[in-house]
Amino acid sequence: MALLTWRKEYELGLADVDHEHRELIDLINQIHQQLDAGARGDAALDLLGELYAQIASHFALEEQHMRTIDYKELDDHKADHERLLDRIRDLMDEYEDNATLDLHAFGVDLDAWFLVHFSTRDARFHRALH
Ligand SMILES: [Fe+2]
Ligand SMILES: [Fe+2]
Repeated sequence: MALLTWRKEYELGLADVDHEHRELIDLINQIHQQLDAGARGDAALDLLGELYAQIASHFALEEQHMRTIDYKELDDHKADHERLLDRIRDLMDEYEDNATLDLHAFGVDLDAWFLVHFSTRDARFHRALH
């Protein structure tokens, strides 16, 4: 089963941004599928590292665009990105320390974060950009 399911509430109504977000969620689901198929040990850590990198690169691109337009909410927006990246680092630490991986709880947190972040901070930023 996919970790995340695209939902209407994720949509900003801006086709290119929604497309990027869909691609990000597809990538997360592809990585999750490999974890779910039984990847453990270093293979699992590599997959978690890839998950982190994919999400971080989406954020970095957004923040770069914010700097270009001197966006006044950059700090707050970036802090929210950091909160999600911290959550992923915690997941990786937990796996390294205890070899446990609660992907269900992670999926619930990811969904909750995307739901709020897309509809508030990303919506405001992309409207400012367009
Ligand atoms: Fe975004
Ligand atoms: Fe964002």
